[in-house]
Amino acid sequence: MNSNKLASEDKSKESKHIYGRAVEVLTGGVSRNTIFRKPHPFYVKSASGSYIKDIEGTERLDFANNMASLIHGHSHPAIIEAVTEQLYKGSAYTMGTEAEVLFAELLNARTPGFEKIRFMNSGTEAVMTMIKASRVFTGKHKIAKAEGAYHGTYDYAEISQTANPSNWGDIDKPNAVPVVQETPKGIIDDMVIIHFNDIERTINLLDQHADQIACVLIDPVPHRIGLFLATNEYIEAIYNWTRKNNALLVFDEVVSYRVNYAGAQDSYSVKPDLTALGKIIGGGFPIGALAGKSEIMNVLDPRATFLRHPHSGTFSANPVSTTAGRVAMELFDEAAVLKLNAFTMKARKQIEEVIKTVDVPVCITGAGSMFRLHFQKNTPNTYRGAYQDKDTKAIVDELLDYLFFKKDIIMINTLACMFSTTLTQNNIDRLSEALFDGFKLVKPKIDQLV
Ligand SMILES: Cc1ncc(COP(=O)(O)O)c(C=O)c1O
Repeated sequence: MNSNKLASEDKSKESKHIYGRAVEVLTGGVSRNTIFRKPHPFYVKSASGSYIKDIEGTERLDFANNMASLIHGHSHPAIIEAVTEQLYKGSAYTMGTEAEVLFAELLNARTPGFEKIRFMNSGTEAVMTMIKASRVFTGKHKIAKAEGAYHGTYDYAEISQTANPSNWGDIDKPNAVPVVQETPKGIIDDMVIIHFNDIERTINLLDQHADQIACVLIDPVPHRIGLFLATNEYIEAIYNWTRKNNALLVFDEVVSYRVNYAGAQDSYSVKPDLTALGKIIGGGFPIGALAGKSEIMNVLDPRATFLRHPHSGTFSANPVSTTAGRVAMELFDEAAVLKLNAFTMKARKQIEEVIKTVDVPVCITGAGSMFRLHFQKNTPNTYRGAYQDKDTKAIVDELLDYLFFKKDIIMINTLACMFSTTLTQNNIDRLSEALFDGFKLVKPKIDQLV
């Protein structure tokens, strides 16, 4: 039995017991696979700032921040206060609230391309509505998206998210690979799979379906592809292609919105027609939003004589999420964004020093307040280049387990960190020291991969 396993048993008695009950009532014992870990998930007692305490009493330093959704860490006092005040007044009504108007005013003022906005409940829903609105506006059906990009679980958006060497096909003719079995063929046929940051191949692939494409869906910093920024040239090339071919350029900024004050889109000379948002804009509560040009957003307008895209949602724009989101985004002002980005860059440099000291073939990608470690010497810039085979993934998991059980540190399962404003230099020192020991542990195995 390895030492990681022993440690996990010592620290997990109560969680093991709860998981025993969980599997009796929840499929696989979980409601989201993200939190599953072997031999069982750990259950939270409380969380504050950058720390989460489990029910056994172990306190862990959290760099996952609920998959990049908590920009101010856990239970921020100003958010708690505002949400508590709202809760006494009710949490959801079949009526409008000023909370949604205030929040819409804030976001639309923040990003120049946001002329109109609609709130919903998740990033998945935002991407789904963005795709449907694109179809309605252009009168076309096909959707182009990058191989490996994660955009939530709408049937179209998830195609090719998990493409692997056995099914991704020739690089010049990438397959549209379903994630869920029995995905209807019609959906697969309506997808055009492109390559992130590869202008020539992307334009060539788009050209083959030019008169049928409603939108090109891009996450400018796609975490699952490898967490690197789309180049300006790439975005410009796609933008120009969409102008010529009556198609929309639509951004999934569910994760990347944090990169600049006005979103990752502020990094580019051209802007998307529509943007899907989620995660940090909920201030820790469920949210999604679709924002963009009025002319396109109008397809959702119930005042139209002929409503082309009816849109609702029982909890859309509920005042709890919109209040929490507004407070969180007010706190994440221009100065806070710059400060957090600079702090993250400093942390990356510190970790790069650790990599050099241990002399391990690891590189770092990232943007703004996010970064990801890759077990390869050369920095990848494509999905296929960053793809981890089974052997590499096993070492990634070993390092993640080591950090979780031995160092009480939580990272995202891609070896990514999504920073929050509550992190301190001491937290980074602790992460660097843990990675120093962790890299030494896995170095013999990584060296063998190269
Ligand atoms: C880039 C991106 N888009 C969309 C989504 C879906 O968001 P949600 O989980 O809120 O449905 C995610 C979730 O991780 C995401 O990372």
